[in-house]
Amino acid sequence: MIPHKTVEQVLETARIEEVVGEFVQLKRRGVNMIGLCPFHSEKTPSFTVAPSKNIFKCFGCGKGGSAATFLMEHESFTFPEAIRWLANKYNIEIEEVQLTPEMLAIKQEEESLFILNDYARSFYEDQLFNTDVGKSVGLNYFKERGFREETIKKFGLGFAPSEPDALTKAATAKGFKKDYLRKLGLTTQHGKDFFRNRVMFTIHNLSGKPIAFAGRIMQKDARAPKYINSPETDIYTKSKILYGAYFAKKSIQKQDECILVEGYTDVISLHQAGIENVVASSGTSLTEGQISLIKRFTPNIKILYDGDPAGVKAALRGLDMVLESNMNVKIVLLPEGEDPDSYLQKVGVEDFEKYITEEARDFILFKAQLLLEEVKDDPVKRAGLIRDIVGSIAKIPDPIKRSAYIRECSRVMEVEEDVLHAETNKVVRSILENRKRLKARKEGTQVNIVPEGGAPVETTAVPPPQPARLTSHEFKEKDIARLLVAYGDKVYDEKENISIAEYVIAQIEEVLPEFESKKYRRIVELALQRLEAGKSVNPQFFIGHADAQISSLAVDLLHQPWEYSPGWDERGLFLNTQKMPDENAVNDAESALHRFLLNRVIKLCEKNQERIKNAAAEGDNPELVKLLKVQSKLMEHRNALAEKLKTVVLKG
Ligand code: UTP
Ligand code: MN
Repeated sequence: MIPHKTVEQVLETARIEEVVGEFVQLKRRGVNMIGLCPFHSEKTPSFTVAPSKNIFKCFGCGKGGSAATFLMEHESFTFPEAIRWLANKYNIEIEEVQLTPEMLAIKQEEESLFILNDYARSFYEDQLFNTDVGKSVGLNYFKERGFREETIKKFGLGFAPSEPDALTKAATAKGFKKDYLRKLGLTTQHGKDFFRNRVMFTIHNLSGKPIAFAGRIMQKDARAPKYINSPETDIYTKSKILYGAYFAKKSIQKQDECILVEGYTDVISLHQAGIENVVASSGTSLTEGQISLIKRFTPNIKILYDGDPAGVKAALRGLDMVLESNMNVKIVLLPEGEDPDSYLQKVGVEDFEKYITEEARDFILFKAQLLLEEVKDDPVKRAGLIRDIVGSIAKIPDPIKRSAYIRECSRVMEVEEDVLHAETNKVVRSILENRKRLKARKEGTQVNIVPEGGAPVETTAVPPPQPARLTSHEFKEKDIARLLVAYGDKVYDEKENISIAEYVIAQIEEVLPEFESKKYRRIVELALQRLEAGKSVNPQFFIGHADAQISSLAVDLLHQPWEYSPGWDERGLFLNTQKMPDENAVNDAESALHRFLLNRVIKLCEKNQERIKNAAAEGDNPELVKLLKVQSKLMEHRNALAEKLKTVVLKG
């Protein structure tokens, strides 16, 4: 970790014009400097650097910030990476804060794995360029496929010789531990090389470090698999990596589009031809992690599928998830039997680009067309297909876009536009209605502390509540957190398709800033973020959370026996009919929520009472009238909530 003081020192020292100047050609214009924006395509410069303020701002695309933000955007650095880069540039020594021994050990091990992988990369490269077999077999293979030497070097291609343990021997002679060689999958359990007699592809992470390898067999029709890949390790998680992303990220930003292909060789081939905004998902269908990786750079994705039936099926599998992620998805199906690499070699880059521009189909239309072929004339299947497509269209928020889709789909599917409109509207209406109901619920239980015509009541100027009350309210907050963790994903209302988390949060979102406990508030906030991202709020999410505090809090909340807040049980309130929470998530949610809201109103009543006293003492009559009105509203609300809880309000 970098000490706070050093971060400040680095940020103070870094000159924005010098940092940006390393990547963008800047020209002086008055007190500022301008250049062509590296984040979007433009012909006249709107990218401005203001040395006096030490910031940059693009008036075309709106991006702006400090030297550190520039590096984070431009180089896809994390914040610490940006600080390190700047510290290095300005010769500022970073005294790392003491890590715990465990963290240190993990970090050191990761470092070692990177270093060892980099050694392996250089070993394979050396074999390719500097050995007789490497040259005649490996290099020849790549050259025949049309890869130029600079491309081969850029992408870290190499050659693994056929000796059983060439790499293992060389690496151990260099002092690398066998243990790490095994961990990376470079050496097998029997001490032999994993990759043998194959041409090698290095897989990089986003900062360009080698994290894994793939080895391709050279002979045709071999029995062994065409590619073998490194296993997942601490530094390589397949589902979060896109092959080529390190080389593509700048171009993706610039083109504001990401081209997704299936194979390693497709990426390299297109890149070499100047189409650089291209990545591959390495033989799997697209994962959520990969989508969010792309989303960091652009919302536009064009998926190129090999012209074979398997490729088409893979297309359909990956699609729904991409749609949910709110990306604009285009599909290009290549001619039968071609993959991007082979087709590019066949027709040349110009025709290739023309093809992928002209043949790009919108995802929904692609899906409609493709499924249509499958259902043929079966009327039942056809009806199902229409429902399916309508469901997809209804998810599009923009009504104009929706209409355009309906028009297109009606043409493609030969269904009356009106029918599709009616069907879509039904679905859209039910989605909207759900939202409205949620909102109505939210407002229905809200405390109106603003009297008609009166000014809002300032609640912050009031002295803090008594500690006893605080504990009691904190308890209610804990209960809310417990509900979200334990039953957030349970159904609250089946017909309206509302989960308990949605119901609870709709009612407490507005009072969240008033939470007394930071940790319980955090739980609610996390749940809220999940909902906003369209994901469900389930125990696994909290238990598996990266923040250890959250995950241990979640475990505590889940394992906590059913208990009542101090005082409630003695008062014998509504205990007799109460089932155990696990049997009764909905009731549990209702009553915990009402207890929470009731407690809050009681607190507000007390605060207001305090103000009434002060206003009376000062003889401020207009104020007094206003406050009394507020008080009566609050009491009304309190009574309503108490009625719902079927309890007596104890103190007046
Ligand atoms: P392809 O068979 O299309 O390979 O598989 P390719 O990359 O186009 O290679 P060439 O051009 O035929 O030499 C697509 C991707 O699926 C994964 C690899 O990531 C490959 O790039 N794959 C394929 C494997 O992991 N293992 C295999 O045996 C085959
Ligand atoms: Mn292929």
